[in-house]
Amino acid sequence: MKRRSVLGGGLGLVGAAAGGALLWRPDDLGSPHSEYFARLNELLKRDGPGHPVMVIDIDRMNHNVDVVARSVGVKKTYRVVVKSLPSVPLLRGVMERARTDSLMVFHQPFLNEIAENFPQADVLLGKPMPISAAKSFYKKLGNTPFDPAGKIQWLIDTQQRLEQYLSLARELGVHMRINVEIDVGLHRGGLAKIEALDKLLKTIKENSDYLAFSGFMGYEPQLTGLRASLDHPAVRKVLETYRNFIDRAKSTGIDPDQLTLNGAGSHTLAIYEKDATMNDLAAGSAIVKPTDFDTFHLTDNQPALFIATPVLKAYGKFQLPGESWVARSIRSWDPNYRHLYYIYGGYWKARFVSPAGIPESMYSSTNQQPITTSERVDLAVDDYVFLRPTQSELVMLQFGDLLVMKDGELIDTWPVFHQTG
Ligand SMILES: Cc1ncc(COP(=O)(O)O)c(C=O)c1O
Repeated sequence: MKRRSVLGGGLGLVGAAAGGALLWRPDDLGSPHSEYFARLNELLKRDGPGHPVMVIDIDRMNHNVDVVARSVGVKKTYRVVVKSLPSVPLLRGVMERARTDSLMVFHQPFLNEIAENFPQADVLLGKPMPISAAKSFYKKLGNTPFDPAGKIQWLIDTQQRLEQYLSLARELGVHMRINVEIDVGLHRGGLAKIEALDKLLKTIKENSDYLAFSGFMGYEPQLTGLRASLDHPAVRKVLETYRNFIDRAKSTGIDPDQLTLNGAGSHTLAIYEKDATMNDLAAGSAIVKPTDFDTFHLTDNQPALFIATPVLKAYGKFQLPGESWVARSIRSWDPNYRHLYYIYGGYWKARFVSPAGIPESMYSSTNQQPITTSERVDLAVDDYVFLRPTQSELVMLQFGDLLVMKDGELIDTWPVFHQTG
């Protein structure tokens, strides 16, 4: 067990209590499971696996798909971010409901899984793959009906990488579509200077047996947190930069209407409802809404993904190993440190959501994490505790199959991708 910082609202305030600063005393934030989680608790106690598991609520998921699809509108393409929804049946559900076959992929093993499971998909890489990863993709492709020449847009950020891809295309005798990453202010790579585009486009044109230019990708999460709308100066700057690249391509005879002009992510997609600069908007996390996505443009989206884990041990009274006077002081000072429980697993990238009022900072353990609650909460051994992941892409891969909930029932299990790279 690893001892993290001192016990949050508790220990640091013991001295203050002694000094009579009672005004600072923490409120009792505890409350039992809401109806939603009480029901899920009963379902899991009856049919759950008895170990930590990830539950996806597909009624909420469908609601979120509708919100995102409405925001993208009918004139643009909604591109589903695979890394944030790493499960074939989950992706299938989202793609069917949103009526899109467009995906954004960030990981070579996932790219092969997508090729196998979604031969109809149009796949844009979300980051430039090292050339050996691109090579591995072709090697592992086998006899799947997927047509990489027509269905993949490889992301290229430099002239040097383009030359590598050209060599690979020649070596394998394949044709590759090339989408160019542009820097619209994030400064995470991509073309920063518009002049650099000319040489890239020339190389592509001169090697049209192997390469074709398919568009741009300009991601702009730096706009998150600005509560920005289209007339915000930071948004105007992003769009101006983007348009400059489009115009430059147009000046060489390229028709922008034929291009994939991708941008945005869950945090920012809603900004562009009334703008047509980009015709292809990406989002993944908005569909399940982890806590990092409790942001301005996602207020209509609902949390749809929960870690559920059983209580292994329950103590009526909060205690600490050996230090009984410290435990006593904390217990009497902070009403959220009255009951002590040990849960199965822990230390995930996640926040407790139900029962309410579980303080964040306790001892951390990936094996048996202690948690405390107020007296308003009365969990029993085998009850479940629920957390919301802070993000989906890594956390969703840590629990095995997803448990699928619909209309308040557990109806299915969905496998997730294997994290192999
Ligand atoms: C290039 C790119 N586009 C879009 C996204 C948005 O993904 P999400 O909607 O899951 O935040 C990301 C996230 O990292 C990204 O890197």
